Amino acid sequence: MPSEAKSPGAATLREARCGAPWRAVRARVTARVLSLCCAGGVWLLAGCGPNPAPPTDADVRRAEALRPRDAQLAAKYERSCLLCHGVRSGAPLAGFAPAWKARAAQGEGALLAHVREGFNAMPAMGLCTDCSDTELRQLIHFLIQGS
Ligand code: HEC
Repeated sequence: MPSEAKSPGAATLREARCGAPWRAVRARVTARVLSLCCAGGVWLLAGCGPNPAPPTDADVRRAEALRPRDAQLAAKYERSCLLCHGVRSGAPLAGFAPAWKARAAQGEGALLAHVREGFNAMPAMGLCTDCSDTELRQLIHFLIQGS
């Protein structure tokens, strides 16, 4: 019976050879994932991510009052873009430069395509279904410049 007597020992050996290293790898992977998440959080808090420092109440009040100069464009703005971009929401605030810097860098073509097709929480055409491409370009310019 020597083989039977040995088997618990062999199992322990297997556990030591296979089980323990796997547990160690799992622990290392978990630590890695956690540290990546933390680094990401710090990165966002530092304001260098896609979410810059939030606008102050004064920034929001200013944005609420902003309108495109052209009356017809202003009317379209009021029933579409303003609902999200002219108030405190998840959308970049009208005329609030820090929210637009990185987005504007994509270029007008990319921004227009995002508005036309919709972009994450923004619905297609930014809800302005009767806006022409020219009007959308003017509205994008207005949102970025605040004028
Ligand atoms: C229902 C809310 C809503 C409406 C209405 C809306 N937007 Fe947006 N918009 C958003 C949100 C939210 C984002 C940010 C999306 C993201 O980055 O995840 C956004 C982002 C944008 C961007 C930046 C896209 C990019 O590539 O970063 C532009 C430009 C824009 N909107 C223009 C407009 C214009 C012009 C209108 C009106 C015609 C409009 N939006 C109407 C919610 C809205």
